[in-house]
Amino acid sequence: MAFDFDSCPERSGTDSTKWHKYADKDIIPCWIADMDFKAPPAVVEAVQARAAHGVYGYPAQRDAVFASIVNHVRRRHGWEIKPEWITFMCSLVPGIHAAIRCASKPGESVVTTVPVYPPFMTAPVLSERNPLKLEMVFEGGRWTFDWAKLEAACAQPHAKVLLLCNPYNPLARVFDRGELDRIAALVRKHELTVCSDEIHCDLVLDPAAKHTVFAAMGEDLAARTVTLMAASKTFNIAGLTCGFAIIPDAGLRSRFRRIIQGLSLDQNVFGLAATQAAFEHGEPWRLECVDYLRGNLDLIEQELKSMPGVVLRQRPQASFLVWFDITALGFEDAHAEFEKGGIGFSNGADFGGPGHVRLNFGCPRERLREILRRMKKVVERAPGRNK
Ligand SMILES: Cc1ncc(COP(=O)(O)O)c(C=O)c1O
Repeated sequence: MAFDFDSCPERSGTDSTKWHKYADKDIIPCWIADMDFKAPPAVVEAVQARAAHGVYGYPAQRDAVFASIVNHVRRRHGWEIKPEWITFMCSLVPGIHAAIRCASKPGESVVTTVPVYPPFMTAPVLSERNPLKLEMVFEGGRWTFDWAKLEAACAQPHAKVLLLCNPYNPLARVFDRGELDRIAALVRKHELTVCSDEIHCDLVLDPAAKHTVFAAMGEDLAARTVTLMAASKTFNIAGLTCGFAIIPDAGLRSRFRRIIQGLSLDQNVFGLAATQAAFEHGEPWRLECVDYLRGNLDLIEQELKSMPGVVLRQRPQASFLVWFDITALGFEDAHAEFEKGGIGFSNGADFGGPGHVRLNFGCPRERLREILRRMKKVVERAPGRNK
C-alpha cells in the first residue's frame, strides 16, 4: 500500500465533532460519519499551499474547480454535466431543504424512508411539509423499498418530492439498475421531483455493485432531479465544508438558488482547494481506502460470529457505516450500555431505527479491533444473551 491507513493522527483536542463528544472519557467514538484517516497527500498539500498564502479573503469559484467536478463525474459515473449546473454549498443538508422547498409548497408531502440519515426526516417537517415515511424492508437478502407502499405514497395527490439516498445511509445499499428503474417509473408517473443524495457514491465497497447516478438515467429524469454530491465523505474533508448540487433544469436550478440566496451558505477557500485536489489527484488514495475499508468489514463479519444477538442483515455495499440490529440483546437502552462499555456508536433511534446502532468503521484496523473487543464484552453481559 502506498498510503498508510493503519496509523492516523490523534484527533482529540482538534475541534473534531466526533472526538469532542467523548473528550476525557474512555469511549472510542465511532458515530458521526467522518473517517479517522488523514486526507490524501495531494489534498493536504493543496490546503497547506492555500494556508501558506496568508490572505483569506472572500472566495471565488474558478473554472478549474468546476472542471475538476465535471471530469470526476464523467470519469467515475459516466454522466456528462455542464459547469453551470453546479451550485456550491457549505453542506448538503441545506441542499436537502432547498430541494424540498423549490419543488413543493407548505402542506404538501415529501416521500422519505426510514431508517435514514436524520435530515431526511427533519427537513420536510422544518420546511412545513408533510413527511410520508416508509420503512425500508429486508427482502431476498437485501434491504430495499416496500414497493407497494412507495407507489401508494407517490400516488398521494399532495406528494411532490421523493428523497432518495443512494448509496443509502445507514443501510449501505447501492441500489441496482432494476430498483432505480422502478423509482424512475414512479416519479415519472406521479410527476415528482427527486432529491438524490449521492454523497457516498465514490465509496462503493461491494465489487458486484455499481453506483448509478439517478439523473444520468434519462434526460427527463435529470430535469426533475437535484443531485447532491461532495468530495467530503470519500476523501475525509467534511470539516472543510464544501458540497454541491447538480441541477440540469434551468427552472428548478433558479428556484433552488433563490431559496439559498442570502443565507451565506457558500463554501470557503480551503474547501474549494481540497475538492479540486481530491478529484484531480485523489484516485489512487480512494482505491486504497476502499480496499482498506473492505478489510475492516471482513474483520467485523469475522468477529460478529462470536456476538450472538448482534445482527448484521446485509454486508454494507458502500460507505464506512454498518447497521446492527441489537434488539435481541435485551438491553433497555443498548446505546447507553455500549457507551458504558467504552464504545460511542450512533444511536439507531436518531435514524428512525430504535433497537439498532450504527458503527462507523472508517478507522485504523487496530482501533476497530479494540471496538469489537469491547463490543463483545458488552454482548456477554446482555440480558437477552441466555434467552
Ligand atoms: C446521506 C448524507 N447526506 C449528507 C450528509 C452531510 O453532508 P455534509 O457534510 O455536506 O453536511 C451526510 C453525512 O453523514 C450523509 O450521510
